Amino acid sequence: MFSLFTMPLIKVIFLVLTFLSTATFSKANPGFHFGWNGHGGNRDISFGLSPQFYQFSCPQTNDIVMSVLEKAISKDMRIAASLLRLHFHDCFVQGCDASILLDNSAKIVSEKNSKPNKNSIRGLEVIDEIKSKLEEACPQTVSCADIVALAARGSTVLSGGPNWELPLGRRDSKTASLNGSNNHIPPPNATIEKLITFFKRQGLDEVDLVALSGAHTIGVARCATFKQRLYNQNGNNQPDQNLEKSFFFDLKNVCPKSGADNRISPLDFGSPSMFDNTYFKLILRGKGLLNSDEVLLTGSVKETQELVKKYAQDESLFFEQFAMSMTKMGNLRPLTGFNGEVRKNCRHVN
Ligand code: HEM
Repeated sequence: MFSLFTMPLIKVIFLVLTFLSTATFSKANPGFHFGWNGHGGNRDISFGLSPQFYQFSCPQTNDIVMSVLEKAISKDMRIAASLLRLHFHDCFVQGCDASILLDNSAKIVSEKNSKPNKNSIRGLEVIDEIKSKLEEACPQTVSCADIVALAARGSTVLSGGPNWELPLGRRDSKTASLNGSNNHIPPPNATIEKLITFFKRQGLDEVDLVALSGAHTIGVARCATFKQRLYNQNGNNQPDQNLEKSFFFDLKNVCPKSGADNRISPLDFGSPSMFDNTYFKLILRGKGLLNSDEVLLTGSVKETQELVKKYAQDESLFFEQFAMSMTKMGNLRPLTGFNGEVRKNCRHVN
């Protein structure tokens, strides 16, 4: 039998002292949970993420996220896509730490004004609403970085896509990086080699690149992001030869050579608000909207070509890999333990 009485005295003293210091620390640092003291659920005292992180401190977290999402998506279907993208743009810059949500202030140069984000990212008010509901229910407990991750998963599920177990416990940054946002988020005219480099820099591979690009099964893009393909793909005033002809003419109607930069076109016109594998089927027919979509097939990398074909054929394979790659992306350099904070308002550091 193993009990406190059979433990060596020194071990008992150590456990009692550790418990007391943890309890005192947790009280002094709201929102901070050790993984093993009843809040976290992962019992290895690692400062890693765990799906059960809010099991005791805020069990209603996901329900609150989902109810706000349902309402927001019923008003505007595109919000699901915008929230999915927000998580990507957060994670690729200093890791998944909600740095993207910080507004300009004396100490912060906001990422919201970077080239990939300006006039482009959306869904920030939905994050605010989730945060304010969570602050009411469980003050200073659920981080903004976790809210963004939960909103991305919830948006995928509500659009008909896969569900997955989401590790939680990310803390929020006290900094943002405009430079990081300009330099680490891949541009839409990137070649396949560039895309792979951008993803490798984050520890993501070719499989992640193709699966995560499948997020373009929902949402839209502005004319400015695909205009080059229509009028001057290679600096020779010619369109991208990989564009299917009728698709090319349709796009020219939406996106004339000059002006109309903010007009939008669906990334997957077959089923623009349904999370499915139509995106990959369209790529096979020369109907991928962005250069970065089409080069997954037309670029010189055999592995991405084969993956596009596989996901076009087998939706459940795509769903399975998407869930795995989202988990991988969601785990990029999270702030845990003593790092970061749980913001009271996602737009400002405490
Ligand atoms: C592979 C490199 C990628 C490139 C070059 C890229 C580029 C873009 C661009 C240019 C837009 C349109 C933005 C605008 O017009 O304002 C867009 C939209 C979108 N992206 Fe990506 N993206 C990439 C990967 C991803 C990933 C990894 C995700 C999520 C996992 C994602 C999710 C989305 C979604 C859902 C939209 C539609 C957003 C909306 O309708 O508001 N993208 N992407």
